[in-house]
Amino acid sequence: MAETKLFKYEPSDSESLAAVGAILRDGGIVGIPTETVYGLAANAFDGNAVAKIFKAKGRPQDNPLIVHISDISQLGSVVSEIPDSAYALAEKYWPGPLSIIMPKGERIPDEVSCGLDTVAVRMPSHPAARDIISAAGVPLAAPSANLSGSPSPTTAQHVIDDMWGRADAIVDGGMCDVGVESTVVSLASDKPRLLRPGGISLEQLESVLGDVEVDRAVLAELEPGQKAASPGMKYKHYSPKARVIILKGSFENYRRFVKGKKDCASLCFDGEGDKLDIPFIEIGSEHDSSAQAHLIFDALRRLDEMGVQTAYARCPDTDGVGLAVINRLLRAAAFTVLDVDGVMVIGLTGATGSGKSSIAKMLCEKFDLAHIDCDEIAREITAAGSPVLSQLAQAFGDDIIRDDMSLDRALLASRAFASEKSTRLLNSITHPVITSKALAKAKDFTREGKTAVLLDGAAIFESKIDKLCDFTVAVTAPEDVRKSRIMERDSLTVEKAEERIGAQLPDDEYKRNADVIIKNYPPYNIETEIQKIIEKYEEKIK
Ligand code: TXA
Ligand code: MG
Repeated sequence: MAETKLFKYEPSDSESLAAVGAILRDGGIVGIPTETVYGLAANAFDGNAVAKIFKAKGRPQDNPLIVHISDISQLGSVVSEIPDSAYALAEKYWPGPLSIIMPKGERIPDEVSCGLDTVAVRMPSHPAARDIISAAGVPLAAPSANLSGSPSPTTAQHVIDDMWGRADAIVDGGMCDVGVESTVVSLASDKPRLLRPGGISLEQLESVLGDVEVDRAVLAELEPGQKAASPGMKYKHYSPKARVIILKGSFENYRRFVKGKKDCASLCFDGEGDKLDIPFIEIGSEHDSSAQAHLIFDALRRLDEMGVQTAYARCPDTDGVGLAVINRLLRAAAFTVLDVDGVMVIGLTGATGSGKSSIAKMLCEKFDLAHIDCDEIAREITAAGSPVLSQLAQAFGDDIIRDDMSLDRALLASRAFASEKSTRLLNSITHPVITSKALAKAKDFTREGKTAVLLDGAAIFESKIDKLCDFTVAVTAPEDVRKSRIMERDSLTVEKAEERIGAQLPDDEYKRNADVIIKNYPPYNIETEIQKIIEKYEEKIK
């Protein structure tokens, strides 16, 4: 563990600046403030020093770094060619939050560019960054100073939290102004291309360059195996420990959705928090993208301090710097976006033998609800020739596919439910696909004008799809009642019935997680029990 020195930036403190410069010249790594986010800097000409950055961050080896210069005269030492358009951009936006990708110069080692023949260069405007580059006397390669995968640091404390004992020094220069990383634009191909939105907006780039192509990865998830133009855009990123879900739609519907939710927090706009009944962090006013950029990473880090399981984020505008905010939030959310202006989704679950299916039927007939059956989706996605089926065969053996290419469900069940580990493996293959299919179906019902959908599934809680429901209902019955029901219904032996019950959550878990609990056994009256769902629905839309 390295000893980390802490400096406070003072423009007049030339002694400290000289000390930081010497650490960098000697091959050390230093957390430095910039106007975007804090960087973890090393001498860009020193491959060994740069390698330490990757180690300290746990950064994937194929994700190149940005080289920081303090004067345009340094540009010639890091690139092999300066296109006219680069001069035009530099004139307008340097120093500032813009990184320009150009053909790499010979002095830049592979450790910086990760073997690419291009390099990203930026001239930061923060006086501390400029003074430190000058004091070092060399360009500095610097990624954001967070542990790989975590939100980028926008205060010295964030850097201390992630890099204490890993960096040789940290310079405290206060809170970063912009708050999201620089815009990355490539001038290395025929057409200028925006690889990462940031402090300089697309509109600002286009005012100098004319048309700029926006890389697909800016707003969409890469398909498996698809190559990222900017390697940093392919990783799950900026993630707090809580699962982040973006809720698109009006504040009214957002409020309705999160109402009464447990173990979660809201990332909302200024003035909205007080109207909610869950803990919240405000991230700037609704139409002020710069304010949101300034606060977003700090908010993501504060979620961890709150220790909640789920965070529901309001969806920002995409204009100006907003494109950078939504780009970061999408990655923090692993691209989970739910449209709360759509149909209300009621999750219905219950252990085997609880009578969930008959209650579902009763509810749909009585209240004209749309019905989404997760069992049915599970059958659809495992149809002959489906990608999920081949994944299952790989995990549980080719013989689970019959000669006619259909799935032998009984054989799969016997293997998958044999241990907790294999059950988890089955779930990790099927649950994400079922979740996205179920959401797509719910969207279709929105178009048809339905007001509520019953999302009926045995694994609503295990798959965590409950976090995407307006509220959840669990149908319950004591274990002995359930056991005799399934033995009779499916002509099972006691052992088989017990095995099936054992593969599911215990009854207490359903009770703990659900918003409404239906007691489906004597002496309870089912009509009265169902009334609880109506009450919950009415409370929600109030
Ligand atoms: O604002 C910023 O840019 C901050 C501060 C410290 O300057 N730095 C920063 O660095 O955000 P980092 O490493 O977290 O992000 C660099 C991004 C990554 O997405 C990387 O893949 C991309 O720039 N990048 C760097 N060189 C590249 C190249 N030659 N071609 C394509 N993408 C490149
Ligand atoms: Mg980064």
